[in-house]
Amino acid sequence: MEKKVTKIGVLTSGGDAPGMNAAIRAVVRTGIYYGIEVFGIMHGYSGMIENDIIPMHSRSVANIIQRGGTILKTARCKEFFEYEGRKKAYNNLKKLGINGLVIIGGDGSFRGAHKFSNEFDIPCIGIPGTIDKDIAGTDFTIGFDTAVNTAVEAIDKIRDTADAHDRLFIIEVMGRDAGYIALHSGIATGAEHILIPEHKTDIEELIDSLTEKERRKKLVNMVVVAEGDNFGGAEDVAKVVKERIPTADTRVCVLGHIQRGGSPSCLDRLIASRMGYSAVECLIEGKYNVMVGIVNNKMHYTPMERAVKAKQKITEEWLKVVKILAS
Ligand code: ADP
Ligand code: F6P
Repeated sequence: MEKKVTKIGVLTSGGDAPGMNAAIRAVVRTGIYYGIEVFGIMHGYSGMIENDIIPMHSRSVANIIQRGGTILKTARCKEFFEYEGRKKAYNNLKKLGINGLVIIGGDGSFRGAHKFSNEFDIPCIGIPGTIDKDIAGTDFTIGFDTAVNTAVEAIDKIRDTADAHDRLFIIEVMGRDAGYIALHSGIATGAEHILIPEHKTDIEELIDSLTEKERRKKLVNMVVVAEGDNFGGAEDVAKVVKERIPTADTRVCVLGHIQRGGSPSCLDRLIASRMGYSAVECLIEGKYNVMVGIVNNKMHYTPMERAVKAKQKITEEWLKVVKILAS
């Protein structure tokens, strides 16, 4: 029979995402509601290894639901890739009697959790927290909605100045391996072209299309590029565009980390609250080593081994929409 979970550790790992604080708050308050002791593990897996672990109370998570970043801090921890590091982490948890873990992070953090739960007798529940939205088994990841709205607000502003000068803008948004921010923000701002890692960029096709627009004096043109596009980032694309279409007045804008910060949107606060609550319920009910997600507005549980492998796909139909609407 599975052991009863009495003490939970919660941590945030990998890139931060707006709404992580709302998830921490939900884990802490749900745990306390069910009589479970909750510990905050600082700086992701580093805190587990360094024993930087603090008791959490209802008041520890007061006044954080509206704040971006993460009160537990986050980190990328090299030592956790090694068995020795994970063993050290396990020993620290064992000493404190922690017998359940909630990991808020992206697929990398889940890969770490998957290894850890296979090696040691501590069940792990994953909560998808990443602005990239590249995790399968959930319609939402915490932080994506806020990040994409930040990008939309910024691109709208770029359009104003682009329009004033009749310029061509190449705008880079985040997404090392994923094009969701580019796709959603690009469609929502009426970008002419969207370049994403999931779809091989045909630079000749882009040049032909922009040349044709230049010929018919289309005044504002915006190309939104995901930073991880297979051709390169905004600077790489702009270099070719400037060479091949010298008459276009081309500028580059890299939005960067502003997309990761800021107060979480209502949607991110809501999904974070539901996922945090549900993660604790999973530990109580013995639904171990799963990632909590939301699919069709219902909680959905994906085994960790699948969550670390499957990526959320982008269908060709999305790109057809971009092409038709941007003509
Ligand atoms: P994200 O969770 O946002 O995808 P990373 O890929 O940087 O972020 O992963 C966060 C941390 O998770 C890493 O720094 C490391 O500590 C841990 N991790 C990632 N992949 C593995 C792995 N294969 N084995 C063990 N730990 C891992
Ligand atoms: O995974 C989230 C993300 O913001 C990616 O879109 C980006 O490529 C990466 O993190 C940047 O991470 P950092 O600047 O923290 O190394």
